[in-house]
Amino acid sequence: MSGHPVLNAFHLGAHRLRNRAVVAPLSRVSTPASGVPTAAMARYYAEYAQGGFGLVISEGTYTDPHYAQAFTYQPGLIDDAQVAGWRAVVAQVHAAGAKMFCQLMHAGALSQCLPQTAAPSPIQPLRHKLKNYGGEGPWPVPKAMTALEIEQAVAGFAQAARRAAAAGFDGVEIHGANGYLIDQFLTHTTNQRQDRYGGSVAARATLALDTIAAVKQAVPAGFTVGLRLSQGKVNDFDYQWPDGQNTARTWFSLLAQSQLDYLHFASEGRGYRHGCVLKDGTVLPQLARDITGLPVMVNGGMHQADLAAQVLDERQGDLVTLGTGALANPDWPNKLSQGEAVQPFQPEMLTPDVTIESTWAWRRNQSVGAAV
Ligand SMILES: Cc1cc2nc3c(=O)[nH]c(=O)nc-3n(C[C@H](O)[C@H](O)[C@H](O)COP(=O)(O)O)c2cc1C
Repeated sequence: MSGHPVLNAFHLGAHRLRNRAVVAPLSRVSTPASGVPTAAMARYYAEYAQGGFGLVISEGTYTDPHYAQAFTYQPGLIDDAQVAGWRAVVAQVHAAGAKMFCQLMHAGALSQCLPQTAAPSPIQPLRHKLKNYGGEGPWPVPKAMTALEIEQAVAGFAQAARRAAAAGFDGVEIHGANGYLIDQFLTHTTNQRQDRYGGSVAARATLALDTIAAVKQAVPAGFTVGLRLSQGKVNDFDYQWPDGQNTARTWFSLLAQSQLDYLHFASEGRGYRHGCVLKDGTVLPQLARDITGLPVMVNGGMHQADLAAQVLDERQGDLVTLGTGALANPDWPNKLSQGEAVQPFQPEMLTPDVTIESTWAWRRNQSVGAAV
């Protein structure tokens, strides 16, 4: 399998990646309540670099002390201790030959831990909080953010990006996917504002565009800034952008004029073909690539070597990101180059909880089982 297109090097912004295999952001609920990354997390992230991935994107990291935090035991980037914790993580990833970006996340209405949440409009989110992340029962009804609170959220992203650069990260990914704050603004069912942040399809992208501009201004030249988008949401995996290509074309045209360095499409829960292909057959990442001219990351079952080869060969995307496939195979690129079998992901590796300890325990059992 050494000729697989995933194994070809790629230039992303100022960075040369040794291949096109990327670890997708994976929240691990493994940080102390201080939000300071630990030595265990450094070892965990370094395993992906040692396993051959060219780029590792961190788990979603909260950006301000107000309404951003998604769950207890989430890492943050709002103080110097958190910067120091991340610096040790990034150093180990770099030492093993990979680049690392930090995913910057604001939970908005989908916080498992904050008693008072804030979102574009006071609409109770669908379904229930996520038990795996310490949540229980219905989501609270969020307060509608004031213009000042929106500006504070944007400033939080910018300040966190500045801290990410100080920690040694090579870039940041703004989390605009999966139903969190920026996605809540993009989505008409959760954004019913009549000010500059709501109304038309274009106006609903204002928060995303303001955030990109503020982050770009905050970071040094050569520091990469990406945006993750999705159709599905953690509390509604089946959600699809409502009017086919029109919404997509509007947003991609606006993003083409921003200073963004890459786009990343998430397909959580239902796989790539459901998450990234519209009913009329339009492949969203490919359309984004055509309209913006930006490098695009694709996601959703990309540990399947034939699917990854197809999306790269057909220029649907430029890089593939692995979530569950990387959890089960932290050495997926090395396995691919050596033609070794890939371990299937099993949900048990996230039990009894989503922490990295559970993953390590599962991986140990697998290798014991394999040796017997
Ligand atoms: C345990 C777990 C944690 C996740 N945490 C995040 C996160 O912090 N940010 C994010 O954008 N996506 C997150 N995701 C979604 C993944 O990045 C990815 O989109 C999803 O697993 C689908 O890709 P796959 O088919 O390769 O698993 C998470 C997924 C899992 C399984």
